[in-house]
Parts: sequence; structure tokens; C-alpha cells
Amino acid sequence: MKTYSGAPYAAATHSALQRRLLRNASFPPRTGQQDALKMGPVPMVPEVHLFLAEDSVLLWARLEAEDGGPLPAPYWATPWPGGQALARYVLDNPEVVAGRRVLDLASGSGLVAIAAALAGAAEVTANDTDGYAIAAIQANANANGVQIATVVDDMTDGDGADFEVILAGDCLYTAEVAAVMLPFIGRAMQRGATVLLGDPGRGYAPPGLLRTLTTYESAPLVSGEDGQRDRTSVLTPVAVALTS
Ligand SMILES: C[S@@+](CC[C@H](N)C(=O)[O-])C[C@H]1O[C@@H](n2cnc3c(N)ncnc32)[C@H](O)[C@@H]1O
Repeated sequence: MKTYSGAPYAAATHSALQRRLLRNASFPPRTGQQDALKMGPVPMVPEVHLFLAEDSVLLWARLEAEDGGPLPAPYWATPWPGGQALARYVLDNPEVVAGRRVLDLASGSGLVAIAAALAGAAEVTANDTDGYAIAAIQANANANGVQIATVVDDMTDGDGADFEVILAGDCLYTAEVAAVMLPFIGRAMQRGATVLLGDPGRGYAPPGLLRTLTTYESAPLVSGEDGQRDRTSVLTPVAVALTS
């Protein structure tokens, strides 16, 4: 397995927003800077290192104070169980993405996108509606030495037409978000895309409409996660009934 040296992180040129996110960020990780990010391996995907929150709430407070107004929660500073499981699956089954154009929908930290790039995807695009996530994705891609395009937009009213593979880690995390993700997933499946979700069983994956490809035991609890999830599945849609 690759040993992470921190070299791409040290060499990267960061934007102003990235410099704000990365203020006091550390590699190797240091303790005692609880409103900062620290670079570390992802528990289920140690091939990938990410800038992760020491304490998401304190990081959020620091960024809001610096921004001067409310910001979305920094979901991008946590590798969510669904994303960890999906990234693990992609690295263990590289033929799913190898040589193909891949979209990581609701990318957060960029974990799944980075895994797809490492697994040999031809092109990888990471999408999120949070501009801070986009800055983090680019910093994390640099740190892992991979190229990822980014789109900060809501793409869920389309069918992801530019992409052969659509990956979505932990995108069914509230009823409201699931209500826009599931029709998008259905449209993408119907036009022939390969669609894979990582989902820790939050209750928004419709039974019978998503088939389980594999289930990982003991997805580790991470900072910002809303309760222990000990089983996380990789799912794929099976029914056009998802389409609206
Ligand atoms: C629970 S996090 C999961 C992040 C990442 N996929 C992972 O598994 O670690 C959900 C992400 O979805 C993003 N999001 C929510 N609604 C979205 C939408 N309509 N389009 C794109 N991203 C969205 C949020 O900004 C957040 O980064």
C-alpha cells in the first residue's frame, strides 16, 4: 500500500478559500488545534488521506466567524460511512470505473472521486452545492496526487448525461435530500449509466428499488457522524419506479 508522504499537499498552490480552510492544518496530524483540519488516512480507505475536522462544530464556528455569516455545516470535513464504503468498493472493484467518465455526486470531501481516480477512471468530476466542499475537494485531490474536475451546482434536475458512471456516497441523509437524489438516480439509470450508492441505512433508501451489491461491517464512527452505524452497503438501482 502507498505510504502517504504529504509531498503533494506541501507542493500545492491553494486558493484564498483553501488557505482559509487549511489555516493551521497539519500533516503529520497535531493535536490541540480543534478548529483546524488535520490530514489523515480514511479508516476504511487508508490509501486515501484527507483534510479532516478535528472537531466539526468548532471548525464550523471558526469558518462562520471568518466568513461573517451562516454557512452550511462542513460535511466535507468528514468521510461519511456511505462514502467510505463506496470508495472501498471502487478501489476493490476498479473495473467499475476504469477507463470511464465518472461523476461523484454530493462529493463532500471528494473521497469517492479520489478513489475513482486512483482506480483508473478516465475522467472524474466531483459535484457539490457547497462551495467550501469544492475548495476542500480540490485540496484533497492535490494532496492525493490526482486530477479531479469540480462542479458547484445542483445537477439533480438532469440525468447526469455527460457521465458513464455516477457514484454517490451518503446522499440519502435526509428525507428532503433523498427526494431530489432518488429521481436523479432513476433518470441516470434509465438512460444506461452505472449508478452506485453507499448507504449506511438511514431509512431513505426505498426497499425493493435499490439492490445491495455488498455490505461492509463496522463502518467506523467518525467526527460529525450522527450515531454509530455498523453496517454500510453499496447499492445499485434496479427499478424504473425511481424515475419521476
Ligand atoms: C452526508 S455528505 C456526504 C459527502 C460524501 N459523499 C461522503 O460520503 O463522505 C452529503 C453532501 O451532499 C451535498 N449535497 C446536498 N444536496 C446536494 C445536491 N442537491 N447536489 C449536490 N450535492 C448536494 C452536501 O453539501 C454534502 O457535502
